[in-house]
Order: sequence, then structure tokens, then C-alpha cells
Amino acid sequence: MNRENLIGYEIYIKSFCDSNNDGVGDIKGIISKLDYLKDLGINYLWLTPFYLSPQKDNGYDVTDYYSIDPMFGNLNDFNELVKKAEEKGISIMLDMVLNHSSITHEWFQKALKGSKKHQDYYHFKDNENNNPPTNWESKFGGNAWEYVESLNKWYLHLFDVTQADFNWENKELRNELFKVVNFWKKHGVKGFRFDVINLISKPEEVWKNDYKGDGRRFYTDGVNVHKYIKKLNENSFGKDDGFQTVAELSSTDVKNVVEYTKPENNEFSMAFNFHHLKIDYDNGNKWKLKKPDFKELHNLYKEWQEELSSKNGWMANFLSNHDQPRQVSRFGDDKNYHYESATALATMYILLKGSPYIYYGEEIGMTNPKYSSIELYGDIESQNYFNILVDVNRLSEKEALKIISERSRVNGRVPMYWNSSNNAGFSENKPWLTLGEDYININVEKQINDPNSILSFYKKIIELRKTDKVFSLGDVKFDEYIEDVILYKRYTNKEARFVYVNLSSKHITLPIKGEVIINNYSSLEKNILKPYQAIVTKEVY
Ligand code: GLC
Repeated sequence: MNRENLIGYEIYIKSFCDSNNDGVGDIKGIISKLDYLKDLGINYLWLTPFYLSPQKDNGYDVTDYYSIDPMFGNLNDFNELVKKAEEKGISIMLDMVLNHSSITHEWFQKALKGSKKHQDYYHFKDNENNNPPTNWESKFGGNAWEYVESLNKWYLHLFDVTQADFNWENKELRNELFKVVNFWKKHGVKGFRFDVINLISKPEEVWKNDYKGDGRRFYTDGVNVHKYIKKLNENSFGKDDGFQTVAELSSTDVKNVVEYTKPENNEFSMAFNFHHLKIDYDNGNKWKLKKPDFKELHNLYKEWQEELSSKNGWMANFLSNHDQPRQVSRFGDDKNYHYESATALATMYILLKGSPYIYYGEEIGMTNPKYSSIELYGDIESQNYFNILVDVNRLSEKEALKIISERSRVNGRVPMYWNSSNNAGFSENKPWLTLGEDYININVEKQINDPNSILSFYKKIIELRKTDKVFSLGDVKFDEYIEDVILYKRYTNKEARFVYVNLSSKHITLPIKGEVIINNYSSLEKNILKPYQAIVTKEVY
């Protein structure tokens, strides 16, 4: 498999399908849905972490990289999943969380007991003046250093205080991590997603106070990052042809993404970046609401798509994942144009240059659950920021809840809506996370045999992306921005496809050329896009 043909699907394992009715999704649940996934047309399945973990950050805090948390199943289940999925033409991609481990990991525990060797696996710094070594902020709020009294030292955690950052400058540590990757490779996986992998290089010389910001400029795409990724590649997945890797890159830039993903560099196959998901942040602040700015989206797509295309880089395209709200609620209109806006957004991003990653549930148009109380948003980031909004920013609880209900990652983690029965067919027992009310109307069973459903549209657009070489291999070009419309061309020297997507509830007049091959309405008025209408046309030169 080449990266050009990869169609990914992300499963948030806790929330996909619960086979043993304990309220939490599991591996056997995924096995039971493989036919559904095959029918959808995807060929790579990214599973969020299932390793042993205290679950402070839902598995992104690993205690033991070699064992599966019993709540998700065991190695036999996993081997069965790999085998059965391969039989259906679906490869498994595992999540590798190698920037940090949980503080419950054996190495960190040994470090706490005084082992110098293991202290050097992490970033520990002697206490000098009773202040944190730098003013860097944790991405989940608060200072990024934690004091350990028994050692009189501080350790670095760019995420939760229970997630200690690894010291990639240490060769022994690096080799230990390569071993982890090779272990799972031996178990038949054909790909990896590397969690926040551009944050791994932070040697001591960059530990400085950041008077202009939160410290990220010192450790994002850090000095040694490309060197270490090349070593990772060389010592693990790089040896296998057809292995697919996707890097999760926090706050990166185009130049670095080209370096991470151009094949001759031997780093990764492709990368996720997040700039396009900040178009509704007010001045870069996620916790301040703003309407999405589609002109900014156009500008970002134009810059990133064209630059990567010309330099042989490769994007992993997506609008939703387990850290983001549901796309139809965020960028579409889930009340008045649910079908139209869900299908318009799919058309817009699935046909971009790169590989699309569909996030479970988006193919039926799952929406944000709109919980009425903060307790239901049970996630460290959401809870921390709720407190910051109330205690530091002095918002009322009601105002803070409004922001959390739009921005929380929990929005994207609600269990899959399979049918309208109790617990949406996800489990026979109370799910670990409360369902939204709209599962009665929005679910797989309702859509699967309806040719006019969001699900049927997804199958059509995935099929087009898979079979039409102009989309897998062709170049990409964005024109001038037309208000609220994302418009681009995919082309080879023989033919072109035009993608027109209206992201507003207005009628928009613009010239439309070519023969229509996809339309999310049953008709097309000459040169008019209706609310959230998406059209794909074809032109042979
Ligand atoms: C990534 C994951 C996110 C996690 C964080 C720390 O951004 O996607 O869920 O909280 O890394 O591991």
C-alpha cells in the first residue's frame, strides 16, 4: 500500500463498540464491526491507545507499553483483530505515545526511588530557588514542571502532571522505545500514529524562560527532532515497504512537515497538523469562542496544500478526532442543515491532496452532546480549563460551561450511535460517557439502507477518492477566495476535477464549470450553490 491510497478511520476504543457490556468499548467490539468498516470503504484503522494505563488521559498515559488493559481485551483478541481485519483488506495502525509515559510506569517509579539511570530517562532538574526551572505552561493548563520533594528536583510534563516527558537525548531510552515499536510490528500491525511526536527534542540547553509565550517555541520541532525520527525509522518501521506512519504534529509549520514527510528523508509517511482547526479560536485562544473564519481556512489550505504538493510532502487530512468537537456542530449547521453540512464538509476535506482520516461517527453526522452540567465533561483538559475560566478569568459558571460545551474534547468521545435502542446499541449497560439525545434520530441503523443518508454519501465520496486517480495522485490548486466557499482544483496533465463547497446557509452565485459527478443536492441550478451545497465536477482537456 502506498500513502496515496490510504483511507484512514480513527476509532476511539473506549467508545466504538462494547462486546462484554461493561460500558466501555473493546477490541472484540471492533471485530464485530469489521464488515461495517469494510463496507464503508476504509483500508486503515487507527486505534487509540489500549495499553495498561491509569486512564488519567484515557490511555495517553501509559504504564506498560507491552500489555493491553484488560478492559479492552487481551493479546489474543488483538491478534484475532489483526487477522480478521487483514482478511477484509483493512490494516491496523496503533497509537504510539512516546513523548511521555504515565508516572506509574516502572521507569518513572524507579526514578522516584533514586535510580539515576531512570531519572535520565525523563527530564529532571535540581531545585535551585524553589521555583519551577522555567515558566513553560502545560498544554492542559498550569506550569509544566512538578516538584518532587523526596528528590528535591522538578520533572517536566508538557501534558498532565501524571504524564512525565521522556528524555530523547538518552540513547538507552530511545532504544527502549524502538523496542516497543518493534514489538507491535511483530504482532502484525501495518502502521503507527505517533502521538505529539514533534515535541520529543528538548535538551537541557533549551530550558529557558519564555517571556513572550508559554515555552512551546523551545520544544516544538526541537533541535534534534529530525535526527531522532530518522533513527526511529531506521530502527523500526523503516525496514518494511508499505508500512504507513502518521505523525501528530503540534503547532508545526509547513517547512517542517515537508521534512517529516518527504519520502527521501526516511521519516514518516504523512502528518496531521492543526492550524486549520484554529479558525474558530479568538486570537489563537481555544477557550474564547469565535465563528469559524473560512477565509482563513482557504488561505491555510492554499498555502499548505500547494506547498506540500510541490515539495513531495504528504498531509493526513481530517476535521475531527478524539481531541476535537464534532465537525458538523462546529463548522456546519447541525440544526437546520444537518445532512447538507455534514456531506459538504466531507466533500471538502476527503478530496484534498493527501490521505483522509474519518473519525468514527462523523460518517453518520454525530453531533456535540450539549451536556447541561460540567461534571459530564469528565476530561482533565476540560475540567482544568473550566476551573481556569471561572477562577482566573472570572467568568460565571454558566458562561464557562457554554465555552466548554463547544470546545471540550469530550464532544468527540461520545459512544457510537449504532441504533435507537437503549444506549444506542453501543452496550447493554450504561456507557462510560453519557450519550447525546439525538442518537434516536442519528444512528447507523437508520442510515445504512437509505441511499440519501449521510452514511451513503460517505461511501460514495470514499469510493470516488479511492478509484479516481486524479484525487489520489493529481496536483492541487486553490483559486481566489469567494465568500464562504471552499473551491479547489485537482488535476493531472489530462484532466481536472473541481470541488465547490458552500459553507454557509446562503445561496451563492459563482461560475461552475465541468460535468457534475457528485452533488449533495438532487439538482443544480446554473451557477448557484444552495446552502451547504457541495459539487464535484470533471473536465477532460
Ligand atoms: C495527543 C493526544 C491527546 C493526548 C495528548 C497527550 O494530542 O491526541 O488525546 O491528551 O497527546 O498524550
